[in-house]
Amino acid sequence: MKVVAFNGSPRRDGNTIRLLRIVCETLEEQGIETEIVQVGGKCVHGCMACMKCAETLNHRCVLTGDPVNEWMEKMFAADGIIIGSPTYFADLTPEIKALIDRAGFVALANGGLLNRKAGAAVAAVRRAGAIHVLDSINHLFGISGGMVTVGSSYWNLGIGLNPGDVDADQEARKTMEDLGKNLAWVLKKITA
Ligand SMILES: Cc1cc2nc3c(=O)[nH]c(=O)nc-3n(C[C@H](O)[C@H](O)[C@H](O)COP(=O)(O)O)c2cc1C
Repeated sequence: MKVVAFNGSPRRDGNTIRLLRIVCETLEEQGIETEIVQVGGKCVHGCMACMKCAETLNHRCVLTGDPVNEWMEKMFAADGIIIGSPTYFADLTPEIKALIDRAGFVALANGGLLNRKAGAAVAAVRRAGAIHVLDSINHLFGISGGMVTVGSSYWNLGIGLNPGDVDADQEARKTMEDLGKNLAWVLKKITA
């Protein structure tokens, strides 16, 4: 069983990845393999709406000049997917949006490559807009063939401005630990 988590922040040691690490450590304690993939800060293209993925049906996007195909391959192979983003103007980062649009479209075009996987969204925020980030990510799970969207004891967010600030948010730590436990519980059910 494997969970892949995507860090949408260009900060490689910022608040988003710190939240993702807590979820992943909790999953590992439950015997579930995890991998965190760096997405933010990479030069990625959005979906071109060329519809070629619906012709080739090879589980790939025709755009090959960036790592999005490599990321979607990891997504399609995983049992669970966590998408994390900092809050940028009350929404997710463009790198994560490109991943969602391209992987989501390739998955649908190929008959549902995300079907019945578990998904969770995570957001870092200074003050406001994180709920919208979570909503934007959850839209992918809601249209992807019976994916199970996993929540926690609070919405899956942590508060902080500068890298590491989120470490002081004790409620966020508990929220991420509970998210990891819930995700592990769901995964054990759906892969049984
Ligand atoms: C371009 C940009 C836009 C931002 N917009 C918001 C916002 O709308 N609301 C907010 O509360 N914080 C906003 N922030 C602050 C970040 O969400 C916050 O610093 C977060 O912890 C960053 O996570 P990271 O360390 O993983 O990058 C913004 C930061 C940047 C760089």
